[in-house]
Parts: sequence; structure tokens; C-alpha cells
Amino acid sequence: MKKITIIGAGTMGNGIAHVFAIHGFNVKLFDIHEGSLDRAIKTIEKNMSRQVEKGILTTTEAESSLGNIELVNEMNLAVKSADLVIEAATENEDLKIEIFKEISTLVSSDTILATNTSSISIGKIAAISKHPENVIGMHFMNPVPVMKLVEIISGYKTSIKTKETVENLSKKLGKIPVSCNDYPGFVANRILMPMINESIQCLQNGVAGVAEIDSIMKLGMSHPMGPLQLADFIGLDVCLSILNVLHKGFGDSKYSPNPVLVNLVTAGDTGVKSGKGFYDYSNGLKNPTVSYNNH
Ligand SMILES: NC(=O)c1ccc[n+]([C@@H]2O[C@H](COP(=O)([O-])OP(=O)(O)OC[C@H]3O[C@@H](n4cnc5c(N)ncnc54)[C@H](O)[C@@H]3O)[C@@H](O)[C@H]2O)c1
Repeated sequence: MKKITIIGAGTMGNGIAHVFAIHGFNVKLFDIHEGSLDRAIKTIEKNMSRQVEKGILTTTEAESSLGNIELVNEMNLAVKSADLVIEAATENEDLKIEIFKEISTLVSSDTILATNTSSISIGKIAAISKHPENVIGMHFMNPVPVMKLVEIISGYKTSIKTKETVENLSKKLGKIPVSCNDYPGFVANRILMPMINESIQCLQNGVAGVAEIDSIMKLGMSHPMGPLQLADFIGLDVCLSILNVLHKGFGDSKYSPNPVLVNLVTAGDTGVKSGKGFYDYSNGLKNPTVSYNNH
């Protein structure tokens, strides 16, 4: 396992590329949008400089790590000699199925195909792949360079060999792999998203404002970040997609996305990545001001 390809260079793709690169892997980062690749490499550079300032990396290590990353804008070139492909494109089932259909015709029969999906069925993705035994969920947490967990999700046909390989690989990255089975939202988002949705419900009902809801949850539950700010960091569009998968997958109205979330995403206020969500980040990530305004 030396050659890793990441499909999708957004919030998660750049973080995953960063972590593999600093551990000496050869990383190819692919995105259909040229702009995403440019943004990703700038973000990786900035985050590595921060690690140098904190003494986590030396300048030489940061430079050589950056040199381990190649930006690629053609799928065939990106995946054809990969040992492992990790798909981290937009959380959309049809899109992921199209990507896996294409990748599975381009890679060798022993390439492991992982998806970083937060909620979508590994089985559905595996079913359209040529080698379903090689398909697995490798769910990194945001921000990837900081968070220890990798939720490993086996589909019905995922082989033990594939599972053990990605578990060992996660450990080589300094992460802690924890396994679970293939049900909508797996474990992390099946529990997290209803909490975020309920926080938005509190906001909509006027129980408290954005800052108050987040403060109560931070101070009362020792959460490092309130649920509304966390939703901004995840991406409100990503939260909406995950809730839709939970709602459809379980057919239970408790997962129905709150209309405030739908409105914010429709308005393009998707959180940190757009500069605004429940908070406004124009003064930087450390000094957000409340942006949500119910008129
Ligand atoms: N944001 C989080 O906190 C978080 C955490 C864990 C897992 N995830 C999962 O990671 C995946 C990516 O999420 P994100 O937050 O990085 O999203 P994002 O919106 O920041 O980035 C998605 C990227 O995918 C690219 N893309 C879209 N279609 C593509 C295609 N056909 N081929 C290649 N690239 C394509 C987009 O250009 C964009 O750069 C999703 O499945 C999401 O559920 C997100």
C-alpha cells in the first residue's frame, strides 16, 4: 500500500490527502473542478505550516510531504495504478454510484475502493463495482489531520482481507479504526445528525438563539463545539444530505430535515465553506459572529 488516490478535493479530500502525504504515501488528488484542486493544495499548505508552527512537523518534513501530493484532473490517470482509492466527493448517492462504476473499470482486481461517505449504503456502491469484496467505507472525521477516529464500514460482501488492510492502514496514519455494519448513517451520523437537527428545531421554535444553544451544549455536555457551529464545520449541505439518507433509509419522520436547514442550504449559506451558515466567518474561524436571522 503505497499509492493512494483521493477522489474529491473538498473539505475531507484535502484533509485525507494531507494525512497520507505526511505519512510518506504517494497521493494523487483528483477533482472534476480545477478550482477545488487549487483551493485544496492551498489549504493543505496552510495546515502543514500550522503543524510546523506547533512543532508537529519540521519545515523539511512539510516540504517533502507537500511533494508527495500530485494534483490530477483526469480520472484514468488518477486511479489506474492506485493500491487504494478513497472517494470523498459530494454526499450524493447517484454521483457516488457513477464514480464507482467508472473507477471499477479502470483499476486492477486487487485495488481497494473505499468511500468516505457519511451515510450512504456501502452495499449499494459495492453492488455496481466489479469486485464488491474490495469495497469498504473508510469514514474519516473532520478535521482529518486532528481527529483520531476512522469509522470502518463493511458492506455485506466486503472481505475480511479488505477490512484488515484498511484497519492496519488507518493505524499507520496514527488513527484509531473502529468497525461497524452497513446501515444508514452507520454509527457516527445516526447519532450526531438527530442532535444537530434537534438543535435547529430548538432554534426554529425560539427556545434559544444560536449562541445560547451552542453555549448550553458546550458548557453542559463538555462538547468542544456547539451543535450549530459543528453543523457549519461539517457543511450544512452535507448535514442535509445525511438527514435525507437517514429519513429515506429508515422511513422515520424523526430524521426529517428541519426546514431551516433546507432554507439555509437553498440560500447557499452552507457554513464554513461558503463563509456563512448559522455563523458568519468573515473575521476568521476563531471569531465567528451569529449570522442566522429569522427576520
Ligand atoms: N464535511 C464533513 O465534516 C465530513 C465528515 C466526514 C465525511 N464526510 C463525507 O466526505 C465526502 C465529501 O464531503 P466534503 O465535506 O469534503 O464535501 P465538499 O463539498 O467540501 O467537497 C466535495 C468535493 O467533491 C468534488 N466532486 C464533486 N463531484 C465529483 C466527481 N464526480 N469527481 C470528483 N470530485 C467531485 C467537488 O468538486 C468538491 O471539491 C462526503 O461523502 C461527506 O459525506 C464529510
